[in-house]
Amino acid sequence: MRLPKQVEIIEVGPRDGFQNVREFIETPQKIAIVDALAEAGFGTMEVTSFVHPKAIPQMADAEAVLTHARRKYAGRMKLAVLVPNLFGARKAVSLAVDEMSYVVSASERHNLENTRQTVDQSLQALKEVLAEKGQVKLRLSVATAFACPFLGKTPLESVARIIDAGLEMGVDDIMIADTIGTANPLHVEELLTYLQQRYPGQAFVMHVHDTRGMGLANCLKALEMGIHRFESSAGGLGGCPFAPGAAGNIATEDLVNMLHEMKLSTGIDADKLLEAVRLIADTVRFPLESHTAKTRQIQHNH
Ligand code: COA
Ligand code: ZN
Repeated sequence: MRLPKQVEIIEVGPRDGFQNVREFIETPQKIAIVDALAEAGFGTMEVTSFVHPKAIPQMADAEAVLTHARRKYAGRMKLAVLVPNLFGARKAVSLAVDEMSYVVSASERHNLENTRQTVDQSLQALKEVLAEKGQVKLRLSVATAFACPFLGKTPLESVARIIDAGLEMGVDDIMIADTIGTANPLHVEELLTYLQQRYPGQAFVMHVHDTRGMGLANCLKALEMGIHRFESSAGGLGGCPFAPGAAGNIATEDLVNMLHEMKLSTGIDADKLLEAVRLIADTVRFPLESHTAKTRQIQHNH
């Protein structure tokens, strides 16, 4: 097996993880978790999203969380946010984030449910975002790249349509998401083979949910195929509220554990990461879907 020696993990727990937590996590608690995660040494963290608070009430304090993080981590850790449209992107630019993840679904139906725009409208807005973004790095996040909760398996051409448009417009980075966690390693191989042939030399970030327990297997397949950047969520929280049936991301601590056991380096301090997971467990007060948390008995015990 030929694997990259160095793997980068973008922690998205404070965004993807929290967005699916129903009970509002007070801002100081969110900030404490961001701080605990930062201690573990992530190079980039997606700390929040600029979305409508009616759509995702948990993100209502996005600006406060970002402002705290920027004050504390500017120059030390890259701060990313998710944005679903031009409005959110403008907000991100005005608050000087380092990176924004601009989400477009490969599935027309999911894009409508999630962003209330057609794919064409999302791509049209992307053009405007790119014209206005200045120094902010833009990652085009292709949601439902494997399957859509409403339409089933996503055709490869639907993924390519978005990436073609994004690359032509000059996006800085591309992320491929298994939003509902239905991929399997064969499907990962199929999509990545297609993308690598169509876009030689283009790097991709993988974003994997663990709905059916195949998250780590899917990451391993992607690693074997040369992917060396992953998004994951501490504690295994997460899921898209606009994708019925979607469960949490792969737990960052499980991914880190697997990579370290395989002698691959991540730059993450696994012990400090577990301290952050402990704080998450105490905060959300429901059982975490993380193997590492279970084996280390990190669960809120009420
Ligand atoms: N953040 C906050 N407010 C926003 C916004 C954003 N990103 N985009 C639009 N708005 C505001 C508008 O200013 C407008 O406000 P007004 O009524 O005071 O004038 C109002 O929302 C309606 O604007 P519109 O463009 O029609 O938005 P919408 O109601 O169609 O909602 C989204 C579109 C994308 C903002 C909303 O569906 C959303 O936030 N979705 C969340 C997607 C998400 O995070 N999914 C999970 C992660 S992939
Ligand atoms: Zn996700």
